[in-house]
Amino acid sequence: MSAKSVNILGLETSCDETAAAIVTDGRIVKSSIVASQTKLHEKYGGVVPEIASRAHIEKIYPVIAEAIEQASVDKDDIDAIAVANQPGLTVALIVGVTAAKTLSFVWEKPLIAINHLHAHLQSALLEQNSPELPTVALIVSGGHTSLYDYHSPLQPMLLGSTIDDAAGEAFDKVASILKLPYPGGPSIEKAAQNGNPKAIKFPVSMLGKDSLDFSFSGIKTAVLYYCHGKDMKGENKVDSMSEQQIADIAASFQSAVVDVLVKKTKRAAEKIRAKTILLGGGVAANSELRTRLQQMCDSMTPPKTLLVAPKRYCTDNAVMVASLAYHKFKAGLFADLTLEPIATG
Ligand code: KG4
Ligand code: ZN
Repeated sequence: MSAKSVNILGLETSCDETAAAIVTDGRIVKSSIVASQTKLHEKYGGVVPEIASRAHIEKIYPVIAEAIEQASVDKDDIDAIAVANQPGLTVALIVGVTAAKTLSFVWEKPLIAINHLHAHLQSALLEQNSPELPTVALIVSGGHTSLYDYHSPLQPMLLGSTIDDAAGEAFDKVASILKLPYPGGPSIEKAAQNGNPKAIKFPVSMLGKDSLDFSFSGIKTAVLYYCHGKDMKGENKVDSMSEQQIADIAASFQSAVVDVLVKKTKRAAEKIRAKTILLGGGVAANSELRTRLQQMCDSMTPPKTLLVAPKRYCTDNAVMVASLAYHKFKAGLFADLTLEPIATG
């Protein structure tokens, strides 16, 4: 007789996406609902925490109701409630945490606390549960850029992370300098398609020959100086630039960022003699990064297996939360009703 399957309701409200999903046995996506707040934050060029919090409050119950309806399950079929409680914006996380605690209490279901970054890793494992170890994982999102030595879903060990801006943040800020639409990552990728990646040599710091940390604030400043003049007194040249010039800046910037992400991942893979590389997080949706990382994996001796999150699960979603929660469920790692949001990772 086969073991009873486990249905987990996952909730995600760490930044500007209100999401709920039901995933069976950590792999089978029964439903995935994401209410994006992009339109609300667009005019500010970034996420405004209070606006995010209010929008999460408005959306959380409709999103949960839709996830349950789409999955065609009854509350009695749900085995646990999982929520991303760290890291993120406290005022945003608290909405998901409060909803999860309420459902856990009222429905008498176990509560599972999930680290949002570890969940991003899980997106790369939806189709293949156990990567061949050792495994290096690269998470590139709007708030984080981190390399892990991935032992198991519940034990990723941090090898390095950004000392200033995250990669996604750099994409967003450079897009704003270039007056491209928010969110910046997809806009830069689109503009870069028609640009020459070798047009401008933007510097990216490698932070020393053994470092597995990242720094992206320098390249953001380099783009700013390129567009405004080094003393910042020159008029903003962006308005008078041709579409081709903007495309060349976008392509050169994207290429430089991807270059450092690929080099550092290779460095980490050599250090721990990795057999597999995992890629997840919002910036993992970038085609240039996916292609260049694949080329890097193919060129190594012996070649590495690259597992990349499907594009729809790169940016924030609740499938990754419910999927990772399955491993905590099996391990009996539950939270209680004192669970709090934690801003840091
Ligand atoms: O993982 P995510 O949804 O949220 C955080 O946890 O931060 O990542 C959002 C980030 C944003 O900075 C966005 O500009 C970036 O991912 N992003 C991209 C692409 N799609 C989203 N960056 C580069 N290329 C893309 N195609
Ligand atoms: Zn994220």
